Amino acid sequence: MNSTAPTRGFNDVITGSFDRLARVYDTALVQQVFYRPPQDETIAELRRNRSRRIADIGCGTGILASRIQRELRPEQVFGVDASPGMLEQARARNPLVTWLHSAAESLPFDDGALDALVTTTAFHFFDQRAAVAEFARVVGAGGLVVVATMHYSGPLARGIQQVTRNSFAPAHAPAPDETRDLLRDAGFDVLDQRKVHRPLPNRLIPDVITLGRRR
Ligand SMILES: C[S@@+](CC[C@H](N)C(=O)[O-])C[C@H]1O[C@@H](n2cnc3c(N)ncnc32)[C@H](O)[C@@H]1O
Repeated sequence: MNSTAPTRGFNDVITGSFDRLARVYDTALVQQVFYRPPQDETIAELRRNRSRRIADIGCGTGILASRIQRELRPEQVFGVDASPGMLEQARARNPLVTWLHSAAESLPFDDGALDALVTTTAFHFFDQRAAVAEFARVVGAGGLVVVATMHYSGPLARGIQQVTRNSFAPAHAPAPDETRDLLRDAGFDVLDQRKVHRPLPNRLIPDVITLGRRR
């Protein structure tokens, strides 16, 4: 992994805690309620787009990347994560996915190598400007980006967002318009942005999926 990537403050502590969580991360209820809904919507978008070379960034234990490989059978699927512990679980899950140890802010792909890049429930841990610049570098013209992440709203959330925007904060859940601006500034047209459909009230887990097309 490139240790000079411009990650957020304490990102090594965050990814280190995922190393320790990795063995219990796949608990069925947590997956069903929390992680699976944005993954289902991401797969639907990839299917619609007929993407062939796809990377899942912050792939964790590899559930989404593995489902992409099994359900869509594209040419190539990559799962990228900064936590060796999470990747160990991912490797055991599916040998047909290429698992890569890397930070989102310094991706191990050539320019324009992918035609789709997705990230679910991990973007808040990234240095978002650096990561989105990398997304724009590695996704070729016409390629798809899918970002599903937490988007709290209301006065308290806005206060927290002001404080955490600084990349010393270990996590920052950007407001929806901030994600749209980041993608546009980096070279994506924003195609859609909507709440993720969940079995729980959206107020409890308020995540939003944003779709972009590389110009
Ligand atoms: C909450 S998990 C989500 C995993 C998976 N996307 C899912 O939906 O289940 C967040 C993941 O982001 C990874 N992560 C955090 N910061 C990262 C960074 N800067 N670059 C790459 N991965 C990172 C963590 O190691 C962890 O596996």
